[in-house]
Amino acid sequence: MIVVGSGPGGYIAAIRAAQLGKSVACIEEWKDPAGKPRLGGTCLNVGCIPSKALLASSEHFEQAKHGLAEHGVQVKGVTLDLAQMIKRKAAIVDKFTGGVEFLFRKNKVTWIKGHGKLKGRRADGVIEVEANEGGAAKPYTARNVIVATGSKARHLPNVPVDNRIVADNEGALSFDSVPKKLAVIGAGVIGLELGSVWRRLGSEVTILEALPTFLGAVDESIAREAAKQFAKQGLTIHLGVNIGEVSTTAKGVSIAYKDKTGADQKLDADRLIVSIGRVPNTDDLGLDAVGLATDARGFIPVDDQCRTSTPGIYAIGDVVRGPMLAHKAEDEGVMVAEVIDGQKPHIDYNCIPWVIYTEPEIAWVGKTEAQLKAEGRAYRTGQFPMSANGRALGLGRPEGFVKMIADATTDELLGVHIISANASDLIAEGVAALEFKAASEDIGIISHPHPSLSEVMREAALAVQKRALNM
Ligand code: FAD
Ligand code: NAI
Repeated sequence: MIVVGSGPGGYIAAIRAAQLGKSVACIEEWKDPAGKPRLGGTCLNVGCIPSKALLASSEHFEQAKHGLAEHGVQVKGVTLDLAQMIKRKAAIVDKFTGGVEFLFRKNKVTWIKGHGKLKGRRADGVIEVEANEGGAAKPYTARNVIVATGSKARHLPNVPVDNRIVADNEGALSFDSVPKKLAVIGAGVIGLELGSVWRRLGSEVTILEALPTFLGAVDESIAREAAKQFAKQGLTIHLGVNIGEVSTTAKGVSIAYKDKTGADQKLDADRLIVSIGRVPNTDDLGLDAVGLATDARGFIPVDDQCRTSTPGIYAIGDVVRGPMLAHKAEDEGVMVAEVIDGQKPHIDYNCIPWVIYTEPEIAWVGKTEAQLKAEGRAYRTGQFPMSANGRALGLGRPEGFVKMIADATTDELLGVHIISANASDLIAEGVAALEFKAASEDIGIISHPHPSLSEVMREAALAVQKRALNM
């Protein structure tokens, strides 16, 4: 089996297939800025892992400056060592990408360093692949190929990204100084996470968003609370804008835009992050050589089990439909390895959680109220605030709430929505509940440790039946 791409989709597929006894090679072309070949894809190199490292470091900085006095801890003369912060992030990336190398060795997965390209499918079903390892391209063959080539940042037309003045996720994770004024285009996940990092480190951050609603995919009450919290923190977000000309100099950037009333505005900043979504990566992949083509949005069409229309070729992760999330890519990697092994795995895409790692964090699984209304489904909701939870108060994190949505008749849990500290960990209980088709009552009657943030999950579930205990 050959896997093209070693992001969370590809490397997990390779390991699972190796566990199942397949002979596996993974073609990966990624090189770090020093030219060293790397495994791990976007997630490990310039995505999930480095962004969460910087989110944690920047939060420590902000806490040390503004959050500790309340606890009776007096800290004076807090200063930022950005170079050390970036070095720590790089060390975590090193450890993790090295960890994938170790896992490949352990599972006897061969790493072919270079660019992979599909070359054809023989009459006997064998698939021909070529890997360009710098110089002459080498031919390989496999019974099955998994395309896991991921995605790349979408850029604005006519606005070149130099990752210094105008950055996408790669540059925004490695600025060498804190911009005094930072502009961000796109108030999605990256805009909010990386906007938060640089705001905490001292930037004056302004986010320009084309859509008139904030976090449109998030349950409305959570999005409202998030907007309130972010405004309080000092993130300026302008919705409903129309970006015009973006001009850059060696020192900064100027963004002309129309605001929501249609009036002309200009935003000058030292640096700009463009975070307007990502596009599937099928560059020079040779899809046509095996009878495949991308859809209108650039994705490789696949069925529910990630089969393409060419037998023996599968595609997973960001390069196919569905949310662009690392755990979704991983789940598809495992599923495809098991399908190739003749098993019958299945993914319920409704049970894939989302997390936005701002502070407070936002996490959800299942349906929002708006989606259920559109489906005409009768439901009940229960909500419980973190401010009534002893552990949250002890931690100094009383912001936010948990909201549960359950079917009005059967009480089946349909959605769990959280805005709070550690929402990324709390949501796992919601995922388990939805996967097991639990009722809100099930969460309400099971024991939760005291004192813990998880008690808010229980109270929100009880609130669906109007029987919360501590409110
Ligand atoms: P990728 O991780 O993009 O990996 C694809 C790999 O294929 C790359 O290494 C690439 O070099 C290689 N490749 C491509 N074409 C070829 C070829 N022809 N030959 C050889 N190799 C090739 N998701 C989360 O779930 N949680 C998060 O907290 C999170 N944070 C993120 C933060 C940022 C800043 C960004 C940008 C993304 C984040 N994501 C997060 C999204 C997550 O990174 C992606 O969903 C995930 O990496 C997709 O995995 P993948 O395996 O499909 O592709
Ligand atoms: P996004 O899709 O989350 O947000 C992009 C935003 O830009 C949207 O709100 C969109 O309306 C806006 N936009 C698009 N074009 C615009 C324009 N011309 N002018 C102004 N605004 C415009 O994409 P983002 O933030 O780039 O992240 C890409 C993907 O990476 C995410 O969708 C997510 O799948 C993944 N990711 C996941 C994370 C997580 O799980 N915590 C963290 C970071 C990224």
